[in-house]
Amino acid sequence: MILIQGGRVIDTEKGEEKRADVVLEGDRIAGIGRYEDDGSYDRVIDAADCVVAPGLVDVHVHFRDPGLTYKEDINTGAAAAAAGGFTTVVCMANTKPVVDNEETLKYVIEKGKKTGIHVLAAATVSVGMKGQALTDMAALKKAGASGFTDDGIPLMNGELLRQAMEQAAMLDVPISLHEEDPCFIENNGIHHGRAAEKLGIYGSPAIAEDSLIARDCMIAFHTGAKVNIQHISSRGGLEAVRLAKKMGVRITAEVTPHHFTLTDEAVLQYGTLAKMNPPLRTEQDRQALIQGLQDGTIDIIATDHAPHSTEEKAAPLTKAPSGIIGLETSLALGITQLVEKGYLTMTDLMIKMSLNPARLYGLQCGRMAKGAEADLVIFNPDESFVAEGFRSKAANSPFAGWQLKGKVHYTICQGKVVYESQ
Ligand code: DOR
Ligand code: ZN
Repeated sequence: MILIQGGRVIDTEKGEEKRADVVLEGDRIAGIGRYEDDGSYDRVIDAADCVVAPGLVDVHVHFRDPGLTYKEDINTGAAAAAAGGFTTVVCMANTKPVVDNEETLKYVIEKGKKTGIHVLAAATVSVGMKGQALTDMAALKKAGASGFTDDGIPLMNGELLRQAMEQAAMLDVPISLHEEDPCFIENNGIHHGRAAEKLGIYGSPAIAEDSLIARDCMIAFHTGAKVNIQHISSRGGLEAVRLAKKMGVRITAEVTPHHFTLTDEAVLQYGTLAKMNPPLRTEQDRQALIQGLQDGTIDIIATDHAPHSTEEKAAPLTKAPSGIIGLETSLALGITQLVEKGYLTMTDLMIKMSLNPARLYGLQCGRMAKGAEADLVIFNPDESFVAEGFRSKAANSPFAGWQLKGKVHYTICQGKVVYESQ
């Protein structure tokens, strides 16, 4: 039994926080209230300076395993997740081979089970992520796929996507979409705007994202599928989601910490470390994303943790791969950029980082209640730290060296401490 004493305990379901002690017994929360340390506990954690919240859930990570494990593997990815306060992650399917078959899916799930945190796996929508034929979604769901996505590559065939959504609706699993129409894009990963102009690059304009989100909102409207718009970055895309929600479409949207923190100007300073798909956009877009978080148009914060090697990211801007790591800076960026600046309360932030992502996948975690899973994060929101010494195999982050607030002290999964700060 573990006793966590005196923290700011966040109840994500009630949307409130209160000072309380939390008792964990086995893999469950045994009680929340006032508890004395009577000597009967295996461990007592003083949380007086800390927030005690449900373990964070990240619905968008790339652990590169199998096939690209020089970038990351399931063990190092899970260690990075635990260090960032995450107890559940959903792995994207663009591995090598891609997760379009039961064998690869089972490999990811089985290896994930040995990490100490919950590692879930999405399977691809299309065979080989080629956008031409659907995978056997029913068989993959039965084999343990938590959802479906061709993340990294947009699905350009609307009819194929309609069929995929009908399948997903029938199987009651979410389908997650990477929204960028390549017909508008010359160089991906860099917004087509002022910074790109300075660099003499024709980048990726917002219309690429806006137009595809608008299309997919309507396909979702017509199929009734549970659809998640991944890493939303543009004001137009956000407005489309807002309209779809008004129409009663079962749609959610996720935003990454980098998209609510940085703009396209960052590429001038950070080079390839500010290159990702979809790209960082304008200050107007960034403000719209924050507004979307505030009014509930954006439900979820997800990292799109996308490790690449130092050599790969050392390539010229137009050649280097897109993506940055995010698991070990996500919580602190949320606190520093959203809570400290008064845009969200701590409880709202926790809802978008645990309860809402859990609900998308129909998971029971993300809650702070007696009988709920003993998956918790304990962090000091006022404690500064420098982002460095990542557990991830990769270090491709523009936030490396940044001073951030919100240090994770403990991550507890299934009642076991899986991360503890020094
Ligand atoms: O920047 C990105 N990198 N965006 C994606 O959607 C995929 C990811 C990757 O796999 O590297
Ligand atoms: Zn991704």
